[in-house]
Amino acid sequence: MGHVNKEDGMVAARAQASVLTRPSSRLMVERGKPVNVVLMGPPGAGKGTQAGTVARLVDVAHVASGDLLRDLIRQDSEIARQVKAFMDRGDLVPDDLTLAIVMARLAEPDCANGFILDGFPRTVTQARELDSRLAARGRRIDRVIDLIVPEDVLLARLSGRWLCRDCHSSYHVLFSPPTTPGVCDRCGGPLYQRNDDTLETARRRLEVYDHDTRPVLEYYRAAGILVDVPGDRSVGEVTEALREAIVTQPDAL
Ligand code: AP5
Repeated sequence: MGHVNKEDGMVAARAQASVLTRPSSRLMVERGKPVNVVLMGPPGAGKGTQAGTVARLVDVAHVASGDLLRDLIRQDSEIARQVKAFMDRGDLVPDDLTLAIVMARLAEPDCANGFILDGFPRTVTQARELDSRLAARGRRIDRVIDLIVPEDVLLARLSGRWLCRDCHSSYHVLFSPPTTPGVCDRCGGPLYQRNDDTLETARRRLEVYDHDTRPVLEYYRAAGILVDVPGDRSVGEVTEALREAIVTQPDAL
């Protein structure tokens, strides 16, 4: 979740009011019907900034594979050291491990009413396994959103990012600074810069995205559930576009 300025806050508030007043026939999000969303986009597209806010607007859980993995590498274990090495290089963590961690999280009670997956799936193997393991639980992915941002903007965003150690809120030294340097506006936790946010590693992550993750977009496009959303706009405008993409019926898009 990112820093939200006053104008963005008003857009988010209008978005929330609009969810509450919109006729239910236009909503995918209906009482008792979970909605399961995958939010895709390259590193720096704004997935982490948006997913928590949008999840609260449509009342579903936010599940970020990167946050789950960063929690894991804070442990003192051999597996944690191996995972940290993959992440520090900007490479993907092996599918088996990532799948196990994400599927365990999706089995938790707060995901029963639906979820927004952020950063997962990242390979076609992960996407296929997600589909089959959800089907075994009588569930499916309803909507996949591709957040589109030009590469020069991505690199500028990543090199100025600061994150909250406690609640994972995302800030930017220029675009969305915290009120007090080094302190999270949301929970008061300490802010830090990720090891993989150097220019060199960010470029490597973008290469990995192009090679391993772009094919996942084609997998979902073929399934007819992919929606493109431009992400090079203000945080509030992107929030509203994402909310709209989730709650609008497929034939109305
Ligand atoms: P992960 O944590 O998922 O990182 P990522 O995909 O590289 O995405 P980022 O967190 O870098 O970008 P974001 O889109 O969330 O951008 P943000 O909102 O922060 O993955 C990290 C690593 O974990 C991977 O490299 C891999 O090793 C491993 N991993 C994770 N999932 C895996 C999987 N499924 N399989 C295998 N390995 C996996 O925004 C960026 C900056 O821009 C912030 O400073 C923010 O304030 C700013 N910003 C955002 N939106 C705007 C806006 N509209 N205007 C201005 N500034 C903005």
